[in-house]
Amino acid sequence: MKISAPRGTSDILPEQIAAWQNIEQTSRTLFKLYNYSEIRTPVFEETGLFKRSLGETTEVVNKQLLEVKSQRVTNAAEDAQFALRPEGTAPVVRAYNQYDIGREVFLSKLFYIAPMFRGERPQKGRLRQFHQIGAEAIGRGANHPLLDAEMIALCIHLLKSFGVSDFKLRINSLGSAEDKKNFAAWLRSALDGKIAHLSDECKGQYERNVFRLLDSKDQACRDVIQGLDIGTRHLSDSGCAYFEQVKQSLDQLGVVYEVSPQLVRGLDYYTHTVFEVSYAGLGAQDALGAGGRYNGLIEQLDGGDRRFPEPVGAIGFALGIERILLALEAQGKQVVVKSSLDAFVIAGKPEFAADVLACVDLLRRQGIAADMDFGAGRPVKKQFEQANKLGAAFVLVLGEEEMKSGEVTIKDMATGAQARVSKDRLVEELKLRIVRA
Ligand code: HAM
Repeated sequence: MKISAPRGTSDILPEQIAAWQNIEQTSRTLFKLYNYSEIRTPVFEETGLFKRSLGETTEVVNKQLLEVKSQRVTNAAEDAQFALRPEGTAPVVRAYNQYDIGREVFLSKLFYIAPMFRGERPQKGRLRQFHQIGAEAIGRGANHPLLDAEMIALCIHLLKSFGVSDFKLRINSLGSAEDKKNFAAWLRSALDGKIAHLSDECKGQYERNVFRLLDSKDQACRDVIQGLDIGTRHLSDSGCAYFEQVKQSLDQLGVVYEVSPQLVRGLDYYTHTVFEVSYAGLGAQDALGAGGRYNGLIEQLDGGDRRFPEPVGAIGFALGIERILLALEAQGKQVVVKSSLDAFVIAGKPEFAADVLACVDLLRRQGIAADMDFGAGRPVKKQFEQANKLGAAFVLVLGEEEMKSGEVTIKDMATGAQARVSKDRLVEELKLRIVRA
């Protein structure tokens, strides 16, 4: 039986790669402007890392972790449980702690462009392997509300630079860890007596992690939530002041947002500012990206190995590349793939093939992208067809006459213009034409 790619994964084929590279390149350029450095962490980590950071009761950990089983478990040390990373924040914090990055660096601005894995039920915009562009700012210097505003502005700048428009940014504040506890307690009491007729799933969430009810997909639950006056009553004075400063800075930076008291995010590590960018045209999976502050996570994951003389703050976000591409497609903004092949060299006779390869080699050494047909003497017509398919800008012919006279025929595939030039001048002549094309 033919083997296909696993459900919920997709191959990125050569005709799609230009769109991906465009997004990756734009991201790298912008990250440089904002002074971010790239970090690459392993594709799998100890399962405990995700349980401790994202939360045991979150969907991502509870239902979606893709665990890795090794067949070669030889000793207790190797007996650790591993899982493919479902997100990038926890691994980055693990690395931050592991290499004690904060000791030297007041504020670390780190980014990643990497595949993530979640064992979800696949549907449009929801995959088991997907790709995130993520940014994390961590350190003693990451406690200022201006950084929250810069982080959100960077997220929006990225989306705009990819060409996405008509998205919506929602922000909220969960406040400090203490405020968050008060928020949960208030929610529980506000919902008390209203959950009896909700589904078992919702009742379970009420017990385990009441915040999950705020983004429940269950209609009955949504109706109950709509009836609550959530507001920002859970915020302490300092939590309120912090959020006010974030909003003021966003206004100053010209970032358009909506305050959404129901926005709490699906991962446990968030405190203070949380945000989400959505694009309505995507249907059920409409979040293009999301993020927020996670001040307590660094110490929480450190396992008490180090002492932190000053509080270490952190904030970040991740954008989903597949969803960005879906939004661009919905907006009719696909990237046009342009061939980068300058020259395709054709052998007039099979016995000239070695000369053709030598010619291709010479061109490449001179920085000209070149290729040839390796079809063991296919007719010239077929070789031209191949050049056309590859989108070569010029075809060079080494035929019988050219071989005798020490020349090469150059054909401009866009205009059809042809000229014979001596082999010695080939590179020069071709470069002149490439510049003009
Ligand atoms: P998240 O909301 O779980 O946050 O994921 C961020 C984005 O990744 C989503 O908005 C979506 O675009 C994309 N995404 C998530 N799951 C899937 C999926 N199954 N298929 C396709 N795309 C998906 C985080 O991952 C946090 N680590 C963000 C963050 C960074 N917070 C602070 N720093």
